[in-house]
Amino acid sequence: MDFINGQRLLGLPIAPLLAGLVASGLVLHVFRNWSRLRHVPGPFWSKFTNIPRVLWVTTGRSHEIHYAIHERYGETVRFAPNMISLGNPAWIPQLYPIRPGFPKSDFYRTLMPYTRNGGALPAVFNTRDEELHKKIKSPIAPLFSLSNTLPLEVFVDQTLAIMIEQIDKRFVDSQIVFDLSDWLQYFAFDVMGTLTFSKRYGFLEQGRDVNNMLSTIWNYMKRASPMTQIPWFDEIWNKNAFIATFRKPSGFTILGLVAKYIADRKQARVSGKGADHGRGDRDMLSQFFELTAKSPQLPQWCVTAWTFSNVIAGSDSTAIIMKTVWFNLLAYPETLSRLREELLQADRDLGGFSKPFPAWKEVCDLPYLDAVIHEGLRMHPPFCLPLERVVPKDGLTIGNTFFPGGTVVGMSPYVVNQHRPTFGEDAAIWNPDRWMVSKELKAKRESSIMTFGAGRRICLGRHVAMLELKKLVPALALKYQFALVDAQRYKVENRWFFRQYGIDVTVKHRAGSETEQIPFLTRPKTPPHLNIPSSTAIVTVRVIDSTASLFLDPPLFWQPSIQGFEGVHVPTYCFLVSSGERHVLFDLGVRRDWNNYAPKTADLIRRTTQCHVDKNISEILDEQADASHSNGQVRSNNIEAIIWSHHHFDHIGDPSTFPASTTLVVGPGVSQDCWPGYPTRSDAMVLDEDIKGREVREINFGVRPVKVGPFDAFDYFEDGSFYLLDSPGHSVGHMTALARVTTGGLDGDSFVFMGADACHHPGVLRPSEYLPIPARINRNGDATKSFFDVSPVLFPDLAAARETVRKIKELDGADNVLVILAHDGSIKNHINLFPKSINNWRAKGLRSSTRWLFCADFSAALML
Ligand code: HEM
Repeated sequence: MDFINGQRLLGLPIAPLLAGLVASGLVLHVFRNWSRLRHVPGPFWSKFTNIPRVLWVTTGRSHEIHYAIHERYGETVRFAPNMISLGNPAWIPQLYPIRPGFPKSDFYRTLMPYTRNGGALPAVFNTRDEELHKKIKSPIAPLFSLSNTLPLEVFVDQTLAIMIEQIDKRFVDSQIVFDLSDWLQYFAFDVMGTLTFSKRYGFLEQGRDVNNMLSTIWNYMKRASPMTQIPWFDEIWNKNAFIATFRKPSGFTILGLVAKYIADRKQARVSGKGADHGRGDRDMLSQFFELTAKSPQLPQWCVTAWTFSNVIAGSDSTAIIMKTVWFNLLAYPETLSRLREELLQADRDLGGFSKPFPAWKEVCDLPYLDAVIHEGLRMHPPFCLPLERVVPKDGLTIGNTFFPGGTVVGMSPYVVNQHRPTFGEDAAIWNPDRWMVSKELKAKRESSIMTFGAGRRICLGRHVAMLELKKLVPALALKYQFALVDAQRYKVENRWFFRQYGIDVTVKHRAGSETEQIPFLTRPKTPPHLNIPSSTAIVTVRVIDSTASLFLDPPLFWQPSIQGFEGVHVPTYCFLVSSGERHVLFDLGVRRDWNNYAPKTADLIRRTTQCHVDKNISEILDEQADASHSNGQVRSNNIEAIIWSHHHFDHIGDPSTFPASTTLVVGPGVSQDCWPGYPTRSDAMVLDEDIKGREVREINFGVRPVKVGPFDAFDYFEDGSFYLLDSPGHSVGHMTALARVTTGGLDGDSFVFMGADACHHPGVLRPSEYLPIPARINRNGDATKSFFDVSPVLFPDLAAARETVRKIKELDGADNVLVILAHDGSIKNHINLFPKSINNWRAKGLRSSTRWLFCADFSAALML
């Protein structure tokens, strides 16, 4: 039979019949595709197939091709059978409204990281389902408001400090040519790491692409970008569990890293180390956890999706704008000069920018800085293919063109941002002045750039990006003089991420920048290695200004005298040291009612000083706790122990204002020296009441002996986070303390040294061979000899006191130790005081910005 032998059907040949049917089906399909949008002009082949637009993207120069096609065909162009590109910014509100109904196209699904077990991971950026988008975006949207973004400035400062340290170290003296674009990218990634998880990836410290993370992302984009133009193929090729068995799935190294950081944080929360990593600054990951805890109905994977969005959407993008701005500032030096003039003028007007970097509030409204950044945003949009949306089913008319429901329509930020009628005839070139126009025109131009997208899916992190940009650009412009080696080496490549490289420069400190003003007269000697036992445990340290002010009469405390320096009024610092939920106080300052000290002590105060006190430490803690509406404030009844550095009146305060459960910790020999106190002993210096009903714990440095640097130490929390140090000389059992405030990996370990009264003025410690005097301080004599020696009057064991000072000089010379003496008034207005923590002192550059401030005490005798 005809049918059975497969050759003929009803007398007709089957093969030609089938071929004819397929061919006519294809022709019909192509005709229908073509005819739906036949009224829209565009390149011939684009009307029938996606292949041209795939090829454009593979060149890495699709932005130029898109622009040229718009120049040729007009503002509405057909890029593919079902894809239209628009080029007029006036149409932005129609295509990208705030209301729902214009979902993202399948373009975005190709950008979802895929794993065989987990499938495609939706993130805020790439999800197309509008309901799901609302569900996962609404909880985090408030975190990205301008007011919630500004507290993240501290994280940007920390990363800036590292960047500057590294540029100084690697490139300033050596004059090596380096690619600034790499360093800007390292910076942007490390900022996002810091503000998302309080961890940098280490790009800056290591000066390289750690674990090839950056190249992995870039290679992923290279592979994904052609797929965005032909998403059905991505579904078969990249998001296919079967194929994924045979090759590495299209996830990122960074997805693995994100998962690891999240797991680490969960672990830290379980072990009570808290959401703020002990820093007192809340990163975004801890805020994401809080949100999921409050809303258990949110999907489990939300924290991963949010964190991933932050890292992927926020790092390369911001880096790209930084590169655009810096390349153009260097290629058009007159614009850099204008920017510097504006910054220097603002510096003068404000009586000096914040140190070490201008604060956001000091620069955010500077018009030329704003213009430079807007021009960077306009010139080179980091996401640089049309941002595609699907037209709702009833269709849509934009301009005079009707698009039936289901049509994919998009605008390329590159094309729109160069719209000459909106931005001027010179739209192709760098010209920040186009933003120095009337308020109305500026606002119109701002709403006409598509760099951050628009409408309902506008970039969530744009305030974060602006914060980073307005911090980085002034900091580098004020500090450095870059020289562009060859502008021709600058190259751009568009793979959806529109990346650049080749900003090859050399760098010097700019004349007049801070570092240049502080050359040393003598080369500093490297201090001996401190050999502090390693540990990953840290404490949070808060410096409390106890409100006690004292007058120090120089001959009692230090020698020789300096003419014109007849005495100084000083504060008295105490320290709140917290290890998780355990809190101790190192010193209590002066009790408010100091007349109620033992009579001998009160008499000493009257005779030797002028003393003024407003509050007891217990009151300071409790008032702060009452005034703050947040949980976790430390009250006087949360204090586990009071540690007296020594038993002098300006350190012992009033222990009776703490509950009897608070232990009093003292140095060796103090118990015997002090108690019985007054009134049992009429000549006692302390009170019986100070220890009534309370445990007194005397430290014995011989038990569990530990060496911390040159000191005998006692490991208070037994985890290496906080050491009491044997520091004799000034009084029986005098102790200082060393707290580890950052640790591990990228931040490295840093410490706060609490010097108590080991000496009463920083001039006893500095200059030293490790910290020679800066050249700008005009002092005759040895550049490494400290201004003072301790005085025998108040240092009865002079030899021991000098030995203690010698040891402290070693710590003071180490880059990772911040020395704070109990009465160093010079730093009071320059450091974070209670309730803020001082843990981030290193990132804030506090060591270099504060260590010579004490010289102002005798400025008349020096030429400062
Ligand atoms: C200069 C830097 C940045 C640029 C140019 C930029 C650009 C964009 C663009 C164009 C979109 C929308 C894309 C579209 O419609 O398809 C977007 C969305 C998004 N961006 Fe950014 N971005 C930047 C920085 C950041 C930062 C720092 C973060 C995070 C901290 C971030 C987080 C997001 C998120 C979560 C979305 C998705 C919003 C949504 O779909 O609702 N971006 N960004």
